[in-house]
Amino acid sequence: MSTIKNLQVKTNLNTSCDLLLVGTQDGVTKFPSMDCVSTLSRKSISNALSGEKKIGSEKKRVVIYNDNKVKRIALYGFVKNTDLDKVRALGADVTSYIISNKVKHAAINLKSFSITDKNLQAFCEGLVMGSYEFLDYKPKAKGIVLNKITLVGDVDKKIAQKGEVLGRGVCYGRDLSNHPANVLTPSYIAKDAVKIAKTNAKMKSKVIDVSKFEKLGLGSFYGVAMGAHEPAKLILVEYKGGKAKDKPIALVGKGLTFDSGGISIKPSAKMDEMKFDMCGSAVVMGVLQAVAELSPKLNIIFAIGSTENMPGGKAQRPGDIVTAYNGKTIEVLNTDAEGRLVLADVLAYVTKNYKPKEILDFATLTGAVLMALGDHASGLMGNDPSLINKVKKASKKSGEKVWELPMWEEYSKDVKSTIADLRNLGRPPMAGTIAGGVFLQEFVDNTPWCHLDIAGTAWGPKEPSYQPKNGATGVGVRMVYEFLEDSI
Ligand code: BES
Ligand code: MG
Ligand code: ZN
Repeated sequence: MSTIKNLQVKTNLNTSCDLLLVGTQDGVTKFPSMDCVSTLSRKSISNALSGEKKIGSEKKRVVIYNDNKVKRIALYGFVKNTDLDKVRALGADVTSYIISNKVKHAAINLKSFSITDKNLQAFCEGLVMGSYEFLDYKPKAKGIVLNKITLVGDVDKKIAQKGEVLGRGVCYGRDLSNHPANVLTPSYIAKDAVKIAKTNAKMKSKVIDVSKFEKLGLGSFYGVAMGAHEPAKLILVEYKGGKAKDKPIALVGKGLTFDSGGISIKPSAKMDEMKFDMCGSAVVMGVLQAVAELSPKLNIIFAIGSTENMPGGKAQRPGDIVTAYNGKTIEVLNTDAEGRLVLADVLAYVTKNYKPKEILDFATLTGAVLMALGDHASGLMGNDPSLINKVKKASKKSGEKVWELPMWEEYSKDVKSTIADLRNLGRPPMAGTIAGGVFLQEFVDNTPWCHLDIAGTAWGPKEPSYQPKNGATGVGVRMVYEFLEDSI
């Protein structure tokens, strides 16, 4: 959870606070102008700093105690940078520093940190993401919690609010993903989606239980769900923030709350990490929460296919042939390539029933994407160059790296089966990520569509400092929101 519950903007610091941060830039030997601090005598600052030589060097922090409304003032040395991702990281570093000082309410002088309307959103995202902690299963570890930050400066409150909401959307996605599979079940995600949808009058939710899958023709999803201990769910939220006649944008997420591999069982090393196989659905949920709060003016369909992939007497067998929602038959050669089987039906269902103008899907689909791109970038594939460019543009804004992989038709041949329309494998170990992409393409008709394989980026220790040192990253939430806003 993000501990910051209250981020407000004020032109003057007229309330009390535990700690005020004032930035001092690299090499500056004088303390900065602190006109926002009416309560502090400049003399006391001069006295406190009289022994300090170069107060503005990076990493240098000088704390001055004060017996007034502002209890402490910290001079915070930093290096000015125009790169927004560095500003995001600065926000997170500032939060970590505040947390290490064990204060509940901190204030930040924006001007001294060179924060203007241009970089305010990134700074706020960093502040909130940097306050993330996951202590649900260590309740005793909770200490003094930083829950309020007052930003002091003459800036646009709306921009700060957007940064805060996106930061919280990321933290919410991280929370969902970090919960273990015995807690975070398909029903848990469904309940949360319904709850969020109730907070916005323009949202309507629908949850389809596994008991209806066969009758509805969701045979590919059902095949994976057969072995699950927890009931699988197809979770749908319709958001109508735009004009009635405008076609929606569909956001589709892979929500495997645990992927053991099924009968094609995985090796046990790191199998625990397969609780993160729902990180694609965490993107959709994080964006859902942000949309519920910010109400952008467009129509959106949120769709999640959620189940476990388990072995057992009821689990589907390698070699089974299933029929997807769009009528295509699939030979299941490996039950561990289950994400594409679930998404096949969700994509086909969304395509047919909502006729979206564009579809984006998010999935921890292949281990192979780690071989191709490592854990720094998500794999991007699609059937429409202009949509791909729109995603790339949003990715530049949010600082979440994507890299396009080719979808030439030679690859599509690799997923054709000799006895069914398709097979759920390409030609392993070659081009595994692209095989996943071209397989999914078979279920969107001609709708412009992009697939993001986030298996390398969704969890694990990550740089920069706004990322957690372990666990889920919440990757994708900010990028998708930027994408949506660019679509208005
Ligand atoms: N959820 C996994 C992909 C994955 C593996 C993500 C490791 C992150 C780390 C997916 O369902 C899967 O098992 N894919 C297989 C596909 C293969 C059988 C064609 C894989 O990547 O090995
Ligand atoms: Mg799998
Ligand atoms: Zn999986």
